[in-house]
Amino acid sequence: MATTKKPIRSKKAAVAKTNSIKLKFDTGWTYAPAPESKSAASINKQYDLFINGEWQKPESRKYFDTINPATEEKLSEVAEANAADVNKAVAAARTAYDKVWKKMPATERAKYIFRIARIIQEKARELAIIESLDGGKPIRESRDFDVPTAANHFFYYAGWADKLEYAFPNRKAQPLGVAGQIIPWNFPLLMAAWKIAPALATGNTVVLKPAETTPLTALKLAEIIQEADLPPGVVNILTGAGATGAALVNHPDINKIAFTGSTDVGKIIQRAVSGTNKRVTLELGGKAANIIFEDAPLDQAVEGVINGIFFNQGHVCCAGSRLYVQESVAKEVIRKLKDRMSSLLVGDPLDKNTDIGAINSKQQLDTILKYISIGKKEGAEMYESNCRLPNKGFFCRPTLFTNVAQSNRIAQEEIFGPVLSILTFRTDDEVIEKANNTPYGLSAGVWTDKGSKIFNLTKRLRAGVIWANTFNKFDPGSPFGGYKESGYGREGGLHGLLPYIELTS
Ligand code: NAI
Ligand code: MG
Repeated sequence: MATTKKPIRSKKAAVAKTNSIKLKFDTGWTYAPAPESKSAASINKQYDLFINGEWQKPESRKYFDTINPATEEKLSEVAEANAADVNKAVAAARTAYDKVWKKMPATERAKYIFRIARIIQEKARELAIIESLDGGKPIRESRDFDVPTAANHFFYYAGWADKLEYAFPNRKAQPLGVAGQIIPWNFPLLMAAWKIAPALATGNTVVLKPAETTPLTALKLAEIIQEADLPPGVVNILTGAGATGAALVNHPDINKIAFTGSTDVGKIIQRAVSGTNKRVTLELGGKAANIIFEDAPLDQAVEGVINGIFFNQGHVCCAGSRLYVQESVAKEVIRKLKDRMSSLLVGDPLDKNTDIGAINSKQQLDTILKYISIGKKEGAEMYESNCRLPNKGFFCRPTLFTNVAQSNRIAQEEIFGPVLSILTFRTDDEVIEKANNTPYGLSAGVWTDKGSKIFNLTKRLRAGVIWANTFNKFDPGSPFGGYKESGYGREGGLHGLLPYIELTS
């Protein structure tokens, strides 16, 4: 979800010198490191669970480490919530719902949500640093995209809280109750905002579980929620892994589950809630097609493709991981892509020059490397930039494959890393058929000079979000979500209120 563009710095390869991130270009000049300061972030040695407005020791008595994937150093240890902790958190959320939150005038609820948004803005620098330390994403991303967009999400839904009668004229919007929310590691603070803001605006209370590799900004958000003086129990934050998430999903007193993560876990959740009254929204994987026509502004398109798959390490559910390029310009586009790839800086996430940070975990790096070797075995032709990788931490060179067949696994399955599969096409019909030929349907991109072509294509592409002549652009006011195995339900915009309400007349 990169939003910034960087000028091309060198057509030739950048040579990064180990972890010291002194970057030397073969043009003879060096890029001075510009690291953001760790000292601006305060991280406790240990975190408990945030239940009923206070920090509570876990019933499990267990804690687990969260590390910095760029250095493999331990940052902190966080509590592992078990079923008894989930019980306590759900009970706190239920009491807060019945006694305080659903009764509170909407204008008052809105003030709390505004307050959260403003405190996020005040602490933006610290949150960005912690996001990059805990998850490995470049500071440019966390500073310019994740944190401001998280604040904007709270601002946006604070605005709706007392205007639901205008959002749904002649209907009454009733909250559902207690929402259990489970989020992944690719946008930890932003996904927390996507989940919590609409739930609170509509009068629901929340138990949120962040991902096990990136719990720290959600815990910082708990501190912000305390500082904003939210009534105890309105938001509870439980750290833990899959078992904690499963306990939340299966808790009988939860009214709604909101999940973002893998399609496999999405299917488990779908099965777990079938036959119950629980409402569910699932935002799952993707295999987005970026389509470049011969009449497109090619340099812009190349920058959009680079942004769509390489920035943020390809850890994006809507990443443009398949590129369909019209045959007549394929050679030129591939050459431009390779040139641009060779100037991408891979390294220290805290360095403001870095384009591609650390892969979030060893496990995810292994998955990506497995797919790279599958691609080679399938007969596709691999090209990777020749940058040097740091000695420690989990890093992956930006990689592309040409001569990819539609049926290849690298063209069908979600890799969730900086790996691009390139295919070619001749006609509109052909590219529509190929782009839609995937189990997923989250997002797509179209690059062409002709408005009519954009409208024609976007109607026929089966994807929840389609960008034209841009990619990975987000706004709290516009809905996001998928088709098919990418899940269902929408987050963001007016649509994002619907999963949290019952409409009555
Ligand atoms: P995951 O789906 O296991 O994790 C997402 C969240 O679900 C985490 O908070 C996790 O603790 C929780 N969880 C795990 N098992 C659960 C269960 N049985 N019940 C309830 N909650 C559970 O994703 P993982 O293993 O970290 O990544 C695997 C693959 O999933 C990635 O390689 C990528 O392809 C995809 N993925 C997609 C994301 C998206 O934004 N759509 C985000 C993260 C991963
Ligand atoms: Mg971590």
